[in-house]
Amino acid sequence: MAKDPVHPRDRPGEFWDERYVGEDYVFGQEPNVWMAANADLFTPGMTALLPGDGEGRNGVWLAERGLHVTTIDASPVGVEKARQLAATRGVEIDIQVADLRDWDAPVGAYDLVVLAFLHVGPDDRATLHRKIAHTLKPGGLLILEGFTPDHLGHGKGGPKDTRMMFTEDRLRDDFADLLDIDNLEILKTELPASERHGGPAAVIRLRARRKIG
Ligand SMILES: C[S@@+](CC[C@H](N)C(=O)[O-])C[C@H]1O[C@@H](n2cnc3c(N)ncnc32)[C@H](O)[C@@H]1O
Repeated sequence: MAKDPVHPRDRPGEFWDERYVGEDYVFGQEPNVWMAANADLFTPGMTALLPGDGEGRNGVWLAERGLHVTTIDASPVGVEKARQLAATRGVEIDIQVADLRDWDAPVGAYDLVVLAFLHVGPDDRATLHRKIAHTLKPGGLLILEGFTPDHLGHGKGGPKDTRMMFTEDRLRDDFADLLDIDNLEILKTELPASERHGGPAAVIRLRARRKIG
């Protein structure tokens, strides 16, 4: 009997393990473009959390800039590649394997959180986003990029279920009363091509700060 396909919404670790097997880095080794565009806001010594950092391209890039980086991902295969990338580039990162939905999140711990294409199921999204926003210190910075429903049929990769994607309303609702939004833009762009990813993409980019008080 054919095996049921693993769904990223239900079993993200297994789903992404299958994709990360092999030598190449699925999303490449260059940092996320939107995160890097905000580089002037990152200073050495800041604490940074990257939930769903996969093979580590973004965590490693921040660690190279002197930030104290913690990454958490459900995929043991991805995490092993992130450890290898950190070792190759000569940086230390606290790299953890966990399903973020079960993760016991610290409150008010980080200066910076980066969410790059972390798409969970519609029943988990708001709860997870709010839990992650709470990990920020007052005034701490959140940088997020993800796919919008327009990406389906437009570009490669991304969830096949539009309910896992981001809209302006979904993000505003998820973070209401927790974040002051400084930038929220929806755009069609070209993501840098890696071996199995990149090209035309429909994305949403958010920059926001944890409310003070
Ligand atoms: C599209 S990939 C993006 C990886 C990385 N952020 C990047 O931009 O290169 C999504 C990542 O989120 C992780 N992920 C998805 N759902 C998760 C969950 N519930 N808990 C932990 N990690 C999760 C996956 O394992 C995968 O590595």
